[in-house]
Amino acid sequence: MLVTGAGGMLGRDVVRVAEAAGHDVVGLPRAELDVTDASAVRRAVADASPGAVVNCAAWTDVDGAEADEAEATRVNGNGAGHVAAAATGAGAGVVHVSSDYVFDGTKGAPYVESDPTAPLSAYGRSKLAGERAVGDGPGARAIVRSSWLFGTGGRNFVETMLALGTERDVVRVVGDQIGCPTYTGHLAPALVALAAGGATGTFHVAGTGAASWYAFAREIFRAAGVDCRAEETTTEEFPRPAPRPAFSVLVSQRRDAPRLAPWQDGLAEYLAERVAA
Ligand SMILES: NC(=O)c1ccc[n+]([C@@H]2O[C@H](COP(=O)([O-])OP(=O)(O)OC[C@H]3O[C@@H](n4cnc5c(N)ncnc54)[C@H](OP(=O)(O)O)[C@@H]3O)[C@@H](O)[C@H]2O)c1
Repeated sequence: MLVTGAGGMLGRDVVRVAEAAGHDVVGLPRAELDVTDASAVRRAVADASPGAVVNCAAWTDVDGAEADEAEATRVNGNGAGHVAAAATGAGAGVVHVSSDYVFDGTKGAPYVESDPTAPLSAYGRSKLAGERAVGDGPGARAIVRSSWLFGTGGRNFVETMLALGTERDVVRVVGDQIGCPTYTGHLAPALVALAAGGATGTFHVAGTGAASWYAFAREIFRAAGVDCRAEETTTEEFPRPAPRPAFSVLVSQRRDAPRLAPWQDGLAEYLAERVAA
């Protein structure tokens, strides 16, 4: 199994989980494989000769993408296409990771795989370009949309809240964006299983349940025993360069989609894992 973006938060867990599952894994961080370089991607895939490629490489700076959509698209759109084409060319399947930000958040109910996409931000458009570049090709190609990731290998909302919680008595957090917090330690095994099984099509795979960032912060402080109060605020009071969907809860309409544990369980496991680390 070849993993691109193997130095990232999700990529590290995918490598770890795939190895633990007994796969022979080649994990390539950005320094060893830049997915925007089509011939380098072809060479890397030919060298590794994998059964499947899991593409975890991405431009993930959501606000930064507003200022440089072309570069975000080069990585998230064209890069994803290079990975998928190289995998198909080598007879390998591909699992490509996408995002809830391909939706505009106005549906008012959980999103299923067949719902129409309408990204609000440059990042969302770049991720949609990646889905199209991967989805339009032949061979075993799967797109896995997930959301609000946290894991030990990277900067994430849980770490931000824990850091703020030790410095302040009160933290103001937006309550009008609702999504599915997802632990990478739960998502990674699902990706590995889909890759090993030659999955095709689009899957929604995220922590079960839903929360606002405010509710998520409250649960972080409660579960971690941090003496800090979360105070609810609004997106309007807390403007960011990139617009976010107000409601981007992901559920699956596919019977063969992996189901993850409730996001609160993922948080508890994550907190235990970082204490152990
Ligand atoms: N984080 C979330 O909340 C979230 C939510 C939904 C979906 N996703 C998706 O989940 C996937 C994994 O994201 P993550 O959270 O693990 O983010 P991450 O920690 O930023 O990992 C992405 C990795 O891709 C690497 N990368 C960037 N440009 C590259 C390039 N041109 N070639 C090869 N590698 C490159 C990055 O390297 P550098 O760090 O050196 O730039 C980083 O190691 C992405 O597809 C992301 O869109 C994330």
